[in-house]
Amino acid sequence: MDKSLFEILPKKFTINYNNIKYVGGMAHLYSIPKTKLVKILKKTEDLDFITNMVIHQEKISKKLGEKGYNVPRVFGSFKIYHENKGIFLPGFVNEDMYFLKRMDSLYGFNFDYFFNLYKEILINLKKDGFVPGDFKKENILCDLNLKKIYLIDYDDWDYIKNEEKIITPRYNYLDNIFFKKI
Ligand SMILES: Nc1ncnc2c1ncn2[C@@H]1O[C@H](COP(=O)(O)OP(=O)(O)O)[C@@H](O)[C@H]1O
Ligand SMILES: [Mg+2]
Repeated sequence: MDKSLFEILPKKFTINYNNIKYVGGMAHLYSIPKTKLVKILKKTEDLDFITNMVIHQEKISKKLGEKGYNVPRVFGSFKIYHENKGIFLPGFVNEDMYFLKRMDSLYGFNFDYFFNLYKEILINLKKDGFVPGDFKKENILCDLNLKKIYLIDYDDWDYIKNEEKIITPRYNYLDNIFFKKI
């Protein structure tokens, strides 16, 4: 793991607790101007690990875009100043698609329609080399007008195709723990 990764990230954006817009299982998402979202992992002890995780999300998101899947527009990985904590933290920044509906909020005809689309997308993702972790309704945003699905939250995703591999740092992190214990 490259220890200097965090230092290399460009400094950009400032957040504070008043800007929290969504709370996920793993992260807080903060609003920043021009409808962007900053995803900051809740666990902040291991700076190298969370930096890798942020960069991983950027890579998967870009790869999904390259392969023709819909993802919120990516701005990148930055060193974000957290005003209340008085420290910089790594954050993944993408577009806030607040105008879309999360799949877990749909019901009836809409739910059935998007659930079928979701199953089709899952088959295609696997064919294309993605191993989608956490591919659940809370991580699927639906455009009811254009009948399109947007994918978010790629912490647990992998991409393995031919010689190319983008593997979530989570496994490496666990490997390291086990390795240390042996
Ligand atoms: N780009 C986005 N546009 C709109 N809502 C989002 C976006 N990214 C995340 N969210 C919202 O925030 C929640 C948590 O974000 P997520 O990336 O899934 O974090 P976690 O890893 O903690 O689950 C999502 O379930 C969704 O409601
Ligand atoms: Mg999520």
